[in-house]
Amino acid sequence: MTLLDVRNLTVTYAGGAAAVRGVDLRLEAGRKLGLAGESGCGKSTLALALLRLLPAGTRVGGEILLDGEDVLAMKWGRVRAVRWAGASIVFQGAMHSLNPVRRVGDQIAEPVLLHRKATPAGARKKAGELLEHVGLPAARASAYPHELSGGQRQRVMIAMALACDPRLIIADEPTTALDVMIQAQILRLIEQLVAEQDVGLIMISHDLAVLAGTCDRLAVMYAGRVVEEGPAARIYEAARHPYAQALSAAFPRIGDPASRFAPRGLPGDPPDPSALPPGCAFQPRCPVALTSCATEDQPLRAAGPHRRAACVRVTPAADGTAPLRDAPAEDSATPSPTEQDPATHGTAPLRDAPAEDSAAPSPAEQDPANGGRDARDDTPGDSPASRPDPVGAGEPEEARPRNP
Ligand SMILES: Nc1ncnc2c1ncn2[C@@H]1O[C@H](COP(=O)(O)OP(=O)(O)O)[C@@H](O)[C@H]1O
Ligand code: SF4
Ligand SMILES: [Mg+2]
Repeated sequence: MTLLDVRNLTVTYAGGAAAVRGVDLRLEAGRKLGLAGESGCGKSTLALALLRLLPAGTRVGGEILLDGEDVLAMKWGRVRAVRWAGASIVFQGAMHSLNPVRRVGDQIAEPVLLHRKATPAGARKKAGELLEHVGLPAARASAYPHELSGGQRQRVMIAMALACDPRLIIADEPTTALDVMIQAQILRLIEQLVAEQDVGLIMISHDLAVLAGTCDRLAVMYAGRVVEEGPAARIYEAARHPYAQALSAAFPRIGDPASRFAPRGLPGDPPDPSALPPGCAFQPRCPVALTSCATEDQPLRAAGPHRRAACVRVTPAADGTAPLRDAPAEDSATPSPTEQDPATHGTAPLRDAPAEDSAAPSPAEQDPANGGRDARDDTPGDSPASRPDPVGAGEPEEARPRNP
């Protein structure tokens, strides 16, 4: 059975901020899904919603099936049990998540006592074992959080998350506050634990490079929606959605002097979720927006093997490199049948790919002019259900100049 199946999840905070707007996610045990996006795009809100940790007054819609059981329909007693044994969260900034006046061993032992019905001695023993499992001596159980380094505290948080053998671990920016050496150690530790224990992992980060190196698949969020999803390495190397492209270009690549000396940023900020622009939420910042983007929103559509993206310019053509650039007015090139991937068409929710699309596209399959295609280039086979009406179908679209 699928470990986690999130269907059309919506979260609106009491003040009216629509922080998550119809997200589908699917994760199998033993797989690693990365959730990327700038600060404020709804990643943490989504993570908190999965375990019903959002503040009172927040409206949550959709379904969150954990091992087939809807978390949103559970009674509170069941939710509490699920928070440790079903799924657990490793938060960003361990100093704020640990109780500063309690020894870390006691903090790790607490959920074992509560949810595993262990004796105090048994829970202490388990805490020591967990510390060793995450690379700390069991004797550190007697330390207070301030006596540990940032990396050690994050290891303690991971030990706590593992305390009740959860089936799913959600790691929300687990390495953001750490220096790169420690970050690498913590990432390897998380990977190793996922592999050993066959749990599912949702890793949240603004850093696409970190996610590409750790996860099997990636979902890029913008303004509360997934705007692109697919195999992690392919999205990092050749994103199709203009926002995912910008996010990827913002991180310099090792061995690529051009990106190192001139990392590209994206001007502006994500929109306020209580006052979202009409049409595509990325339109005010999009360097390749069409006139119609100001009024027409786009659902996720096939964007290559095992990939989907929510952009009027994306076709289901082969997974190609698509540099961000100003749009030419039109590009009528329609991909040949060999470039199309009928298997990816349709409305399947975000899921782990059965196999990575490891075959690199041949030059002929590549789509360097992706940014120049307009809505009319949508190829046959893109499910009408997933794309009710191609923007500007049958009418020429105007290219807009780049936003200042
Ligand atoms: N408790 C809250 N009440 C109202 N708005 C919130 C609350 N928490 C987060 N938000 C808003 O929801 C949006 C998404 O926030 P968040 O999920 O923290 O994003 P991310 O984790 O991607 O940085 C932001 O605009 C943020 O200001
Ligand atoms: S081209 Fe249009 S639909 Fe695509 S990301 Fe830009 S604004 Fe959104
Ligand atoms: Mg966050």
